[in-house]
This record gives sequence, C-alpha cells and structure tokens, in this order.
Amino acid sequence: MNETNTQYGGRPSLPMQGVPQPKRDEVLGLPRVHISTHPVMAHKMTALRDKNTQPPEFYRLVKEIGMLLAYEATANLALEPVEIERRRLAGGIGVTPILRAGLGMAESFREVIPDVQIWHLGLRRDENTLQAMEYYNQLPHKVDLQVCYAVDPMLATGGSAIDAINILKRRGIPRLSYVGIIAAPYGLLKLSQTHPDIDIFVAALDESLNDRGYIMPGLGDAGDRQFGTF
Ligand code: PRP
Ligand code: URA
Repeated sequence: MNETNTQYGGRPSLPMQGVPQPKRDEVLGLPRVHISTHPVMAHKMTALRDKNTQPPEFYRLVKEIGMLLAYEATANLALEPVEIERRRLAGGIGVTPILRAGLGMAESFREVIPDVQIWHLGLRRDENTLQAMEYYNQLPHKVDLQVCYAVDPMLATGGSAIDAINILKRRGIPRLSYVGIIAAPYGLLKLSQTHPDIDIFVAALDESLNDRGYIMPGLGDAGDRQFGTF
C-alpha cells in the first residue's frame, strides 16, 4: 500500500473518509440515473432486507428483483425489422455479473432474454482499503454487442462498478449500463461522475455508508447472504 493510501499510524484510509457523503436528495436527480418506483419492487425489497430471510429465499428474491430490473433496464433496446410488421432485438446483448454477488442477477437477465451472452468478471473488494481487485476475467475478445449490462446488487463506494465499466469500455462495447439493487449516494455519485455516458438502474437508494464502507441500512453482505457463507 502506498503512502497516499495510508493514514498516520499505518491504518489504511478509505475512499469515503475525509469527504462529506452526499445526501439522497443530492443524487436523486442525476442524469441517466433510474431508481425504481415500482410498488412490486418495493414489496420485494422489504423481504430482501429482512434479517430473517435465509440464503435460498434471498437468492430467489435477488433473481426476481433482477428480472424486474432487467425489464426496466431493457425498455430502450433497439429493434430491427425482420419481416413486414415484425421486429427483433438488434445485435447481441451482454451481461457482466461482477462476481460473485452479481451471479443471481445474471440469471435474471437470462430469464428475460434467453440468448444473452454472459461475460464473467471477478472483482473482490479489499476489506482494508475498499479497493476492488480483479481476480477473474472471462470477457471474450470478439465483441458484437448492442449493449452490455454490468450487474451487481451493491453499489457502495462505487469502486467495483467503476472498475468494471472501465474494463468493459476497453472492449469497445458501444453502450454500457450498470444495474444494481441497492446504491449508496456516495457510490452512485462517483459512478455517475466517472462514467456520465452510461445508464444506471437501481431498485433502491439508501442513506449512507458506514465507516467500513457498508451501505446503511442496506442488507449486509449480498454475496454471503446469497451463497450462505457467513
Ligand atoms: C461487494 C458487492 C460489490 C462491492 C461493492 O462484493 O457485491 O461488488 O462489494 O462495493 P464497492 O461499491 O465499495 O466497490 P465483494 O467485493 O464483497 O465480493 P463478493 O461479491 O464476492 O462478496
Ligand atoms: N458489499 C455488500 O455486499 N454490502 C455492502 O453494504 C457493501 C458492499
């Protein structure tokens, strides 16, 4: 870890330390940010956040919420004519689950659009620095996509989402979107400012990050809750 990343006493400084976190109201009107207002989404989010929801049910809910988000995020896809009066989705559709918590949401997109290409990308947030580290990459070299959706339930400091979009941009995909379940205002603002050319879809906007970079009220660790690794 370098000097600039270390506070006096050798403790790592975290991205959100020393800067005031934006309030919800300050990020609600950001361009290209879409926060779901669907009542069914709100209903399912209540069950997802419930501490008593166990991993099998949690995973099922992530997939259902992911399907609702997939409908919202794909509302503006381009169509091309097939025969007179018929149209189909133009070009390939890609989904990049940010491992591992994004896996359930990739399945949601697959339910909605069965022939999506799934491009796996492994990023792990270092719990001491909150920096994302790439550990797995199955992005193909041949790119023939109309759009690619990076999916991950949690947008906390925004580091993982920003890195994922950077990696996808280097593949030359014409259009990128981020789809998440819960965002903190801090991470949403960072992602929107760093990548103003992408659409961002989330099911809910929460209040803040705590001093460990967890979303408050949030739902805890989305990966652990999906896969039962407590
Ligand atoms: C979580 C989450 C995001 C990231 C969000 O993953 O799924 O990828 O943290 O935090 P950020 O916005 O501050 O980058 P984690 O790295 O814990 O990995 P996991 O999915 O394997 O649990
Ligand atoms: N990752 C999670 O799973 N939850 C958070 O609140 C922040 C990062």
